[in-house]
Amino acid sequence: MTIIDIINKKRNRKQLTREEIEFAVNGYLDGSVKDYQMSSLLMAIVLNGMTARETIDLTDIMIKSGDVLDLSKIDGLIVDKHSTGGVGDKVTLVLGPLLASLGIKIAKMSGRGLGHTGGTIDKLESIEGFNTKLTEKKFIKQVNDINIALVGQTADLVPADKKIYALRDVTGTVESLPLIASSIMSKKIASGADIIMIDVKVGNGALMKNIDSAKALAKLMVRIGKAYRKPTICLITNMEEPLGNAVGNSLEVKEAIDTLQGNGPSDLLEVVITLCSIIIGAVNKMPNNEAKNLLFKQLNNGEAYKKFEELVKAQGGKINNIKISDKVFSIKSDREGYINNIDALHIGEIAKKIGAGRNTLEDKIDYEVGLVLSKKVGDYVEKEEELVKVYLKDKDISISEILECFTIEEELKSNPKLILDIIK
Ligand code: URA
Repeated sequence: MTIIDIINKKRNRKQLTREEIEFAVNGYLDGSVKDYQMSSLLMAIVLNGMTARETIDLTDIMIKSGDVLDLSKIDGLIVDKHSTGGVGDKVTLVLGPLLASLGIKIAKMSGRGLGHTGGTIDKLESIEGFNTKLTEKKFIKQVNDINIALVGQTADLVPADKKIYALRDVTGTVESLPLIASSIMSKKIASGADIIMIDVKVGNGALMKNIDSAKALAKLMVRIGKAYRKPTICLITNMEEPLGNAVGNSLEVKEAIDTLQGNGPSDLLEVVITLCSIIIGAVNKMPNNEAKNLLFKQLNNGEAYKKFEELVKAQGGKINNIKISDKVFSIKSDREGYINNIDALHIGEIAKKIGAGRNTLEDKIDYEVGLVLSKKVGDYVEKEEELVKVYLKDKDISISEILECFTIEEELKSNPKLILDIIK
């Protein structure tokens, strides 16, 4: 068997055997398969796809490339929640403490932001002192003690995905359903949770640009979950406009805190409550309406926020020390009308440009900068009324570029739905 035979086979639209996928993935990890050969194989997969069997084999081979967390020392069912990535997506920061305040165990490994989408770990590290690197022993103890721990992914977890993803990122081979599904699910399964909840974002600010591809990705991930007897539930949610109002690390933490104290923006709240009520249904078999009432109670009686405080303290963070830049610019509308769209991708790119995101994993980010929307899709804006506040440090902004993100028209278009589907 040679890597060239394997590339040719996939180029000719044939199904690869498990041994052939193993040869390519393990060879790439040990250096016997070169970057240019792996990129060629990845491109053949992007163009010609993989069957469900090949995708499950690829997932399994990636899982076995590194450590698998053993969370059996945690009492009770453990939930992991993942998002395929969006702009302003601070759902985990709210959902985690909210569920933990109800006794549900959240043991979660999160990623850093790359490109125009943010990452939970960067947001948490914007809280001074917050330690996202716990030993496995401490991670397990913390979940047993306070029901929640949020940490970064270790280097030993699915190293094959780490190396292949870095290559995909620079070779135009990210957009492939089998590659995305196996990449996400290998990390989720290796992280050891019992129930996997995935928020599949769809829209111009997301990896999945249309509902059909989002549904196909969700079905594939649910199928992989079944192969491992891990109940996997996917919620498909809209990412045409940023989620909530804040985009940028510290600003998003502040908005998450507001939401945990019962004062969150309605779209963020809708996604959080929907995801949480599905999880409570899966863990406790509680009817949806009952679960929703319980969740609102936890937000309004201070219990959810108290759990967030406990989490921050347990991981060494200082909750009263969340810094936000005091160099603030108010961007006003140059016309009046209804806001029919706010371009999430473009807003995410502007946030990255002013320092809130990174181009490569080595880039340093500025936690204190970002944008806060004063208007959302469906709102009416007067001429000269504020559309957005921009928090800057040492980079400049282009006002016209920011204004271009807003589609303002005389007629109000129908509001797009936020929750588009549930696949399980
Ligand atoms: N997120 C991942 O972890 N992997 C992908 O391939 C895409 C998004």
